Amino acid sequence: YVIGIDLGTSAVKVLLVNQEGTVCSEVSKEYPLIQSQSGFSEQDPEDWVTQTIAALKDLVRTADVAVEDIEGISYSGQMHGLVLLDAQNQVLRNAILWNDTRTTKQCKQITETLGEKLLSITRNVALEGFTLPKLLWVKENEPDLFNQAVTFVLPKDYVRFRMTGKLGMDYSDAAGTLLLDVIAGAWSTEICETFDIPIALCPALTESFDVVGTLLPNVTDETGLSETTKVFAGGADNACGAVGAGILSDGDTMCSIGTSGVVLSFEENQHRDFRGKVHFFNHAKENSYYAMGVTLAAGFSLSWFKGTFAPDESYEELLSDLRESPAGARGLIFTPYLAGERTPYADAMIRGSFIGIDGNHKRPDFTRAVIEGITFSLKESIELFRSEGKVIRRIVSIGGGAKNDDWLQIQADIFNATVLKLENEQGPGMGAAMLAAFGCGWFDSLEACARKFTRVTKEFQPSTPTVRQYEELYQVYRQVYPSTKSVS
Ligand code: XUL
Repeated sequence: YVIGIDLGTSAVKVLLVNQEGTVCSEVSKEYPLIQSQSGFSEQDPEDWVTQTIAALKDLVRTADVAVEDIEGISYSGQMHGLVLLDAQNQVLRNAILWNDTRTTKQCKQITETLGEKLLSITRNVALEGFTLPKLLWVKENEPDLFNQAVTFVLPKDYVRFRMTGKLGMDYSDAAGTLLLDVIAGAWSTEICETFDIPIALCPALTESFDVVGTLLPNVTDETGLSETTKVFAGGADNACGAVGAGILSDGDTMCSIGTSGVVLSFEENQHRDFRGKVHFFNHAKENSYYAMGVTLAAGFSLSWFKGTFAPDESYEELLSDLRESPAGARGLIFTPYLAGERTPYADAMIRGSFIGIDGNHKRPDFTRAVIEGITFSLKESIELFRSEGKVIRRIVSIGGGAKNDDWLQIQADIFNATVLKLENEQGPGMGAAMLAAFGCGWFDSLEACARKFTRVTKEFQPSTPTVRQYEELYQVYRQVYPSTKSVS
């Protein structure tokens, strides 16, 4: 067996997976977000550790397996969050998370100071969510704390440190710091020097499937796990989600709809240059990358709509509306900019809209427009990939957006691609388990592991007349952003 630990933003989920790729047991434990001011989003790293240990303890207690048979553990982590440690490796302040937006000023400073170099070194533009702007914010606003800092790590790296005593960071997560030379796979001395950040703050780099050690005695005592179980570095949640969905070769693309939505496409090498229009990060598979576009309010648009207009219905009941409104929602268009938009606009101020409301529209039309609007927004990332020459014909759909077959058909028709649904899909936690399975030597390659662990259960084919209809509507959808930008 192996264990995958998925350290998310609202909860940690631990999965026990066997050699067939079947999840034998899973436990989830929540922790709070600390939002003391508008735009601030923090967590207490101690909560991650306590809840991960508690989840593992429950997993060991309830699963019917001998702990000696658990060969490996690995991690998937929420990206970008800054954890600062002092000389004794004590946490200096709450972690500043990926969805914290206090660093607009620091992003501007990074962009203006580095100019073109930022893109050529990091392959990404400076966004509030990334780690370097957070480091600069602490340096400017809490200089005493910054001066005590000896190391910085990302969320799952801290949990792994507390479980093994070993400090480090894998390339896939380091790519989201804006301090990594993504192609060289090394910390950028140039960026560190430019912003007067001691390079010694940056931890040692590893591959996601590298073994980092074994569990500390206090962890084996508390959880009941064995001291022989190997611990592997793990990766960024998006990289692990991609591994879990088998996105490991050229042409593989994934659409993941959770609170936010992601379209992620495998990149064999560094040559395709999106010039910062989409994220470009190191993958958890060695010497490979992925490009990724983000819709900030994907599932969030649907949960907002349900909470506001159908609070007493289940998602399934609400989504049965999709059968009562035709493709195009009788001319109603929705843009999902409830919290601004990342790809392709990188605009934190834009807000959403319903366009074309008619006296004949009924609730099913609104539900359908919301689902279509979220899907159009994700199509914008797909079209960006296609405009750079990528061929996207098959897309693996995961997350909340993969639970409803009518929505999956809408994805196939709007994306104009075959959409694949996986059996017992488990997201990034499964990717983490697969890194451990590969690290333990169960398979020769991550691809071989994916062939065994990820099973397609259903394929949704684009249907030509609907594809054409959506193509026309998409052109109208594309006009809504420029037309509403100045009024929203
Ligand atoms: C990626 C990002 C999010 C977090 C969520 O750039 O900010 O997807 O990784 O955990």
